[in-house]
Amino acid sequence: MSDLFSDKAHDWDTRPVPAQISEGVSRALMQAIALSPTMTVLDFGAGTGLVCAKLAPHVGRILAVDISAAMLEQLKKKPELEGKVEVYCQDLVAAPLPAKVDLVVSAMAMHHVRDTAGLLASLHTHLKPGGRVALADLDSEDGSFHPPGTEGVFHTGFAREALGALLESAGFRDVRFVTACEVLKEGRAWPVFLVTATRR
Ligand SMILES: C[S@@+](CC[C@H](N)C(=O)[O-])C[C@H]1O[C@@H](n2cnc3c(N)ncnc32)[C@H](O)[C@@H]1O
Repeated sequence: MSDLFSDKAHDWDTRPVPAQISEGVSRALMQAIALSPTMTVLDFGAGTGLVCAKLAPHVGRILAVDISAAMLEQLKKKPELEGKVEVYCQDLVAAPLPAKVDLVVSAMAMHHVRDTAGLLASLHTHLKPGGRVALADLDSEDGSFHPPGTEGVFHTGFAREALGALLESAGFRDVRFVTACEVLKEGRAWPVFLVTATRR
């Protein structure tokens, strides 16, 4: 599998869009979920660790999972994550981790996974009973957020009602959506949701 983020990783953290999203998503996440130093968190599609870095001071351990070696190389360079984050370069759905966590977080990675139901089922198996997910991505959009022909984009955002139903079918309860932020790009504002849900 080719690394679709290999040309983006080196300057990812200087780009305004990921910066706005990681800021807004982390803020909304910490308003929705009480973090604690006893928690183990899995960040699905952790990338360069923008969200990990915001959560790290408030939790015990973070498992950063991504299929891009280039993005994870940037994450590994961050001194503030040393000793706190374990890095896994693998597809979680095809190769689950032998770990159960308290919380799964994800920012802007779900639209890169074709089979959303399969992904949610996999996230469910990685949670302890009563564990939670906090997943952020674009609300349904007209397909213009990414440049035409961008490889590896399988969803033009998500309809909240349909995603909520998929979460319930995958074994989650208490599904709640908030708007985490509106990301400004090319003169338009794109809403980004954060959905939280609890493993039944
Ligand atoms: C738009 S970036 C977001 C990165 C990071 N969450 C952030 O907010 O800056 C999407 C990330 O999801 C990762 N990704 C895509 N498909 C994946 C998969 N099947 N498993 C794990 N990570 C995946 C990509 O490699 C990329 O690092």
